[in-house]
Amino acid sequence: MHKDQFLLLLLLLPWSFSIAVENNRCTTSCGEVVNISSPFRLRGDPKICGDPNYELACINNRTTIDLHSGKYYVRYIDYTNYTIRVADVRLRKGNCSSLPLHSSSCSYSNDQDNFHPFRCHNYGLTILIVNCTKAVDSQLYINASSCFNGAAFSNFSSTRRRLYAMVDANVSSVETGCTIEHMAMIPWWVDGNHLRSYAQIHEQMVYGFELSWLEKACKMYFKGCAWCDINAEHQIYCGANTGKDF
Ligand SMILES: *[C@@H]1O[C@H](CO)[C@@H](O)[C@H](O)[C@H]1NC(C)=O
Ligand SMILES: *[C@@H]1O[C@H](CO)[C@@H](O)[C@H](O)[C@H]1NC(C)=O
Ligand SMILES: *[C@@H]1O[C@H](CO)[C@@H](O)[C@H](O)[C@H]1NC(C)=O
Ligand SMILES: *[C@@H]1O[C@H](CO)[C@@H](O)[C@H](O)[C@H]1NC(C)=O
Ligand SMILES: *[C@@H]1O[C@H](CO)[C@@H](O)[C@H](O)[C@H]1NC(C)=O
Ligand SMILES: *[C@@H]1O[C@H](CO)[C@@H](O)[C@H](O)[C@H]1NC(C)=O
Ligand SMILES: *[C@@H]1O[C@H](CO)[C@@H](O)[C@H](O)[C@H]1NC(C)=O
Ligand SMILES: *[C@@H]1O[C@H](CO)[C@@H](O)[C@H](O)[C@H]1NC(C)=O
Repeated sequence: MHKDQFLLLLLLLPWSFSIAVENNRCTTSCGEVVNISSPFRLRGDPKICGDPNYELACINNRTTIDLHSGKYYVRYIDYTNYTIRVADVRLRKGNCSSLPLHSSSCSYSNDQDNFHPFRCHNYGLTILIVNCTKAVDSQLYINASSCFNGAAFSNFSSTRRRLYAMVDANVSSVETGCTIEHMAMIPWWVDGNHLRSYAQIHEQMVYGFELSWLEKACKMYFKGCAWCDINAEHQIYCGANTGKDF
């Protein structure tokens, strides 16, 4: 080795070494989310980690994400399907009187605005939680009152309001006398007809719903691709080129 080359190597060494150290400092797990990698990053990590648009936070050993529609716990990241499963931070497992802090719905909102930079994945089922002045006798209305006789709702019966959950119902089918208090989402693959009790529905709300970052992955893997999809082998492919060469 020429001595000039050696000098150059010496000069470069600390720099490349620090890059390597920084790389190692990207946090890869937080609580139940064990595989945090690009495009995701964790707040507080070095700039080199992930994409700032996909920033998560680790708070008390729980992974959270802030979206326009609200604050969510990240339950699972699926790098095969480019989906992230999230649930409202207010929902508590095993406590069916915990309601979401914010309303989320893929059917009744523009996902490009509310869930940006994600899109709704296969559109989950929307749960409407309605507060009615009278009892409603319909299969569409699942009685949720038993969940709300705790301290916070002790005066609930005296106001003679009744709470019901409606699975994947059309807003226009909500009876007069009932107001929609909350909207929540459950996974698209849940069979709504098998949800018989509000506790079962609540369990699914806690489990969360899926959002997709396929569009982002498409830009990461292909240049000038209009849209991507995933094939049967779970590989991402470009469906159509834009014709533009970047
Ligand atoms: C963080 O959460 C994980 C998964 O739920 C758990 O295994 C781990 O013990 C927790 N760590 C602390 C410090 O609470
Ligand atoms: C985490 O995700 C990365 C990116 O898809 C993948 O290469 C890696 O195998 C995954 N690791 C685990 C432990 O799942
Ligand atoms: C990805 O989605 C497909 C179909 O939607 C599903 O069958 C598969 O289990 C998912 N893969 C993972 C790793 O969850
Ligand atoms: C259940 O959730 C409700 C509403 O958020 C809260 O007031 C109550 O304290 C919770 N109960 C338990 C046992 O955590
Ligand atoms: C239902 O409506 C009544 C009367 O407007 C209100 O006092 C109560 O807080 C509502 N319940 C819920 C859970 O939103
Ligand atoms: C709903 O459940 C509550 C509490 O279990 C019960 O008092 C009420 O009669 C039920 N209402 C209907 C319409 O079934
Ligand atoms: C309970 O409800 C009754 C009737 O609506 C009302 O007069 C009373 O002030 C309420 N009490 C509390 C503590 O909210
Ligand atoms: C709700 O019902 C109305 C009228 O029946 C229909 O035009 C609309 O498309 C429905 N919306 C959804 C989200 O199903």
